[in-house]
Amino acid sequence: MVEANRISELRELQRQAEQGGGPQRVEQQHKRGKLTARERIDALLDPGSFSELDQFVLHRCTDFGLAEQQYLGDSVVTGFGKVDGRLVYVFSQDFTVFGGSLSEVHANKICKVMDLSMKNGAPLIGLNDSGGARIQEGVLSLAGYAEIFLRNTLASGVIPQVSAILGPSAGGACYSPALTDFVFMVNGTSHMFITGPAVVKAVTHEDVSFDQLGGAQTHAGISGVAHFAEPDEQTCLQDIRRLLGFLPSNNMDDPPLGVSLDPADRTDPELDVLIPDSPNQPYDMLEVIGRIVDDGDLFEVHKEFAQNMIVGFARLGGRPVGVVAQQPKVLAGVIDINASDKAARFVRFCDCFNVPLVTIADVPGFMPGLDQEQGGIIRHGAKMIYAYSEATVPKISLITRKAYGGAYIVMSSKALRGDINLAWPTAEIAVMGPDGAANILFRREIESSPDPEATLQEKVQQYRDKFANPYVAAAHGLLDDVIQPRYTRPKLIAALEMLKDKRDTLPPKKHGNIPL
Ligand code: HXC
Repeated sequence: MVEANRISELRELQRQAEQGGGPQRVEQQHKRGKLTARERIDALLDPGSFSELDQFVLHRCTDFGLAEQQYLGDSVVTGFGKVDGRLVYVFSQDFTVFGGSLSEVHANKICKVMDLSMKNGAPLIGLNDSGGARIQEGVLSLAGYAEIFLRNTLASGVIPQVSAILGPSAGGACYSPALTDFVFMVNGTSHMFITGPAVVKAVTHEDVSFDQLGGAQTHAGISGVAHFAEPDEQTCLQDIRRLLGFLPSNNMDDPPLGVSLDPADRTDPELDVLIPDSPNQPYDMLEVIGRIVDDGDLFEVHKEFAQNMIVGFARLGGRPVGVVAQQPKVLAGVIDINASDKAARFVRFCDCFNVPLVTIADVPGFMPGLDQEQGGIIRHGAKMIYAYSEATVPKISLITRKAYGGAYIVMSSKALRGDINLAWPTAEIAVMGPDGAANILFRREIESSPDPEATLQEKVQQYRDKFANPYVAAAHGLLDDVIQPRYTRPKLIAALEMLKDKRDTLPPKKHGNIPL
């Protein structure tokens, strides 16, 4: 029998560990509008499911008076638990202990759960709130970061990795989240930057605030570093749970089948009248997607970044899918540098984790212009082609209206191993829009005509009559079917069901060389 005093000693140590940096620092944390490391874990995981590891770990630094400052577990809480009954691993940095800074043992604790998550094939969720490298430890702390970066890279494509930034994340510390699949931030309390406002001022003489430089809106809307900007921590943690619901636990599993009360054979007559008569008039692609997917539920990723492209997770007949679509309401749905990056990364994520792709195209082309060319639209656009070509998951596409030129090709076209390619009767598939085509093909005729405008319009109409429909592509088998819009949902669900056991491979190689 264990003596009573041994049990009370254990209880006392556990109590100490759970206090983190002590009541005062916990109060400060709350005053800043932040939860503590343990409160975050409780909010993230199924109630009572958390098993902590390494609660008794102590840092080993004796310099700068640290020998006298010891906190059980040091500055991170690690372990495993469940989200909707499924295993996940988690680390949660404790800002109340040395500002959540990363010591050698802090890194070791994180690496231990990363190794476990890899061996056991379950997602890793990192809750970041840290002043970065433990300044007193120097190179040992830096090496600790490197150990984490290595594991982030090795785990990429094996298990889903999710990061939440819930406080500061400065300097090289940003790179672990940046290596993971999804980055969540919270408006007002999270900041990510390589150097803070003071260094920026000294080096470039720019006056910037913390939020401008590295707040949630900056990274979710402008830089694209963050995929989600959340109003508060609770919503952030709930959205991480929601995201995981679409994903398999690892690259060998299929995504979890949901139960949908939305009938698979549901048709929607509104879709028949949704596309405006004029090819240049915008409409809301989110409405199209909402009318097709289960319960109208699309979980948008990168919602505030490159809004001319929509990417996100949804379910069709209970099966999770990755949706990639143009948004005609923003820049007419043109593909620019940021839209290419956004879509390519999402397509590659879905392909890593066996999530079928549903691509919906209404695209006038790649974005022209000096900025775009000098920014490397060729290199960035190539990422999308690469990602779709390489993807072996089921690939279903639907062309609702325009699909011109390279942008037609890239949106999961048949020749890029598209499995099922569908179009609505309003689809126009051509090398370019009718105006551009007529101007190039019939320039001389137009210029020498007594009424150039009338001749141009006549040629535009000729070109439109020939190509501005889906039937030329369908005649060549480049479309598998032209469907009445109202039947889109049942058609997509039937295609997904048909492709559920699809197997396709890539030639053996060490790895490809995507144009980065
Ligand atoms: C040790 C640290 C620390 C650190 C904060 N603390 N950062 N201790 N190493 N990196 C301690 C503080 O001394 C303080 O201890 C407590 O944490 C809370 O910090 P405050 O400054 O009081 O909090 P706040 O005002 O909210 O400011 C938070 C902060 C600031 C913005 C994060 O602390 C800060 O600028 N820290 C340094 C950030 C940094 O430059 N890190 C190195 C980045 S480079 P007491 O005892 O007073 O409560 C890097 C390299 C990684 O990380 C490379 C990887 C390749």
